[in-house]
Amino acid sequence: MKITKIITVILPLLTCGYANAESTNPQILVAYYSLTGKTEQVANAIANASGGQLYKIEPDKSYPDNKKERRKMLEQEIEQNYLPPLKPVDINPENYEIIFLGSPVWGNHISQPVKSFLHEYNLAGKQVIPFVTHSGGGRGQCFNDVAKLCKDCIVDMDGWSSWGVSTGRKLNRWVTQQLKNIK
Ligand SMILES: Cc1cc2nc3c(=O)[nH]c(=O)nc-3n(C[C@H](O)[C@H](O)[C@H](O)COP(=O)(O)O)c2cc1C
Repeated sequence: MKITKIITVILPLLTCGYANAESTNPQILVAYYSLTGKTEQVANAIANASGGQLYKIEPDKSYPDNKKERRKMLEQEIEQNYLPPLKPVDINPENYEIIFLGSPVWGNHISQPVKSFLHEYNLAGKQVIPFVTHSGGGRGQCFNDVAKLCKDCIVDMDGWSSWGVSTGRKLNRWVTQQLKNIK
């Protein structure tokens, strides 16, 4: 492990215990997309545990509020593998070394906005740690998707996957362990 990573990533965690939103770690980004708020809750907990900067991935054009219309549109986007353009933000993900990347599971894969995120930014050489929420079908191909869509990233295949929202000690332990594993 590079000495700079020990100093900037691991030491703050060991000395402060679990970091909180006030003690941010400039190396860590917690980027996520969430349609109905579940992945967002997990992302918030990961940001608290890691001290990472939160970044909400949002399509430029929001999905319809009407559930039936929305489902139809999402199914079309998934079927056509449409990558929705994202809302511009003032954070540049390429400036971070470690990226926790969150998505709901859509049809056993990562969501289209997260695919857009991986398409829009060059994360070569970055550590990418995926996390997903689902509704009982499990993580599906999500971690493989991240590895496929970001070939030059170092993807942690031991990502987080939970049925709906799951936070607390188990998640905090996972965050700390994944950061310790970074070589
Ligand atoms: C278009 C679409 C496809 C989905 N496909 C799956 C699936 O394949 N497997 C599964 O377990 N849940 C699936 N779900 C449910 C979501 O993954 C689950 O509710 C997730 O926790 C929602 O996260 P969010 O609140 O952050 O959007 C799907 C939901 C949508 C809208």
